Amino acid sequence: MSGPDLRRAAAARALDLVEPGMRLGLGSGSTAAAFVDLLAERVRGGLDLVGVPTSEATRAQAEAAGIRLATLDEVPELDLTIDGADEVDDSLRLIKGGGAALLREKIVACASRRMVVIADAAKRVATLGAFPLPVEVNPFGLAATHRAVEAAVAAAGCTGPVSLRRTADGRPLVTDGGHHILDARLGAIPDPEVLGAGLWAVPGVVEHGLFLGIADAAILAADRGGRAEVT
Ligand code: A5P
Repeated sequence: MSGPDLRRAAAARALDLVEPGMRLGLGSGSTAAAFVDLLAERVRGGLDLVGVPTSEATRAQAEAAGIRLATLDEVPELDLTIDGADEVDDSLRLIKGGGAALLREKIVACASRRMVVIADAAKRVATLGAFPLPVEVNPFGLAATHRAVEAAVAAAGCTGPVSLRRTADGRPLVTDGGHHILDARLGAIPDPEVLGAGLWAVPGVVEHGLFLGIADAAILAADRGGRAEVT
């Protein structure tokens, strides 16, 4: 089975968690987009709910698909957020932000009573860190913040380069919130809580892509002989 098939299988299972009248956080990335597509079919079939998107891309997709949307200020507590992840470990700790939406994703997930991850089972890891860890930073004082992030990474016992994420045309990527992203290629993160705390202590760091103690469950789809096994 292809990656898109597995992502869609995980997204389809997450639809079972959706109930009429829910206030739903809508994640970002390709797996979350598959979920939004499937959700829109249900909405067209008469399901009534309100969604809070975690990125401008998800907002555009959901709006075009006819899903009723609100801001987090209009809907202070959400029932459920469904979102993808770049890595998931056995303690439901995540790396997120490969699509640069980590700040809004974390705000929305933390405003939800439940957050459920949907992903291709290949995202499951024993140790977080093979995927570059995104760190969202304010553009002001970027060089100083970059150095401080490198120091925080080293202090947490991690090694590897930290680099500014750029777009295809070579410009620094700008997030929906007007910030930049530093990607830390660490290979392995021995203690995610220590690294997360160290990164938060850096002035200029807006958010990091370690989601610790936030996810409540993960729906993972694996290829088993050409069929999707969803667990
Ligand atoms: C977006 O910023 C990310 O956190 C995504 O949720 C994550 O990168 C997973 O994306 P895919 O579903 O496209 O793999």
